[in-house]
Amino acid sequence: MFITFEGIEGCGKSTQAELLRDYLQAMGYSVTLTLEPGGSRLGTELRRLLLSLESTDLSREAELFLYLADRAQHVHQVIRPALEAGGVVISDRFIHSTLAYQGYGRDMDVDVLQRMNSVAVDGTLPDLTFLLDMSPQAGLRRALSRNMEKSIASSEGRFEAEALDFHIRVRKGYLELASKEQERIVILDAQESPETVFKSVREKVDQALGIN
Ligand code: TMP
Repeated sequence: MFITFEGIEGCGKSTQAELLRDYLQAMGYSVTLTLEPGGSRLGTELRRLLLSLESTDLSREAELFLYLADRAQHVHQVIRPALEAGGVVISDRFIHSTLAYQGYGRDMDVDVLQRMNSVAVDGTLPDLTFLLDMSPQAGLRRALSRNMEKSIASSEGRFEAEALDFHIRVRKGYLELASKEQERIVILDAQESPETVFKSVREKVDQALGIN
C-alpha cells in the first residue's frame, strides 16, 4: 500500500504522515515514511538546491527536472523496494506536488507534466492520497513561524517567499486535481485540529487495509 500526503506549505501533512506511521507500526505493519524532495541520497542534495533561498535564479524548467530526478531516484531506491518487500510506504509529497506547483503555480502544461511524472515513476503510483486543504494565508503563517523556530528560513524558505498569488494557484490546482481523481484523492480540512484530521485519515486507511 502506497499512501501520499499533499497540500500547500504549513498544512500539517508531515504531522499527519508521522501520526499514520506510528499508528500503522503499532498495528504491526512494516512502514517506510519518506518525503519529496529528499527521500534518497541524491534527493538530499537536490532538496538543498531546490529549497534554498540562494536558488531564486532557477528556471522553472530546471526546477521541474530536478524534482523529477529526485522522484525517479526516490522510486527506484526507496519506494519500490519497500513496496516489493510487502511494506506500507507513506510519502510526504509525490506526483501531485509537481502538477500543483509546477503546473498550476508555475503555469506549465499539466498534461505534459503528467507524462513526465509517468516516466519518473515508471508505474509506481499511490493507492491513496490525502490532500490537506487550507487557506494559503493560514498555511503560510504556520510555515513561516515553523521556519523561524527551526532556523531554516533561508535554507528551506524558497517557496514560502513566493507571492500569495502563487500559493492561491497551487491550492486551486490541488482542488481541481482532486475533483478529477476522486477515487484516489481524499480532501481533508486542514484547519481542523491535528487529532480531528487524523481521525479521518485513520478511518480511510482502516477501510483501505481492511482493519476494523
Ligand atoms: P516541503 O516538503 O517542506 O513542503 O517543501 C517542499 C517544497 O517543494 C514545497 O514548497 C513544494 C515544492 N515542490 C514542488 O514545487 N514540486 C514538487 O514536485 C515537489 C515534490 C515539491
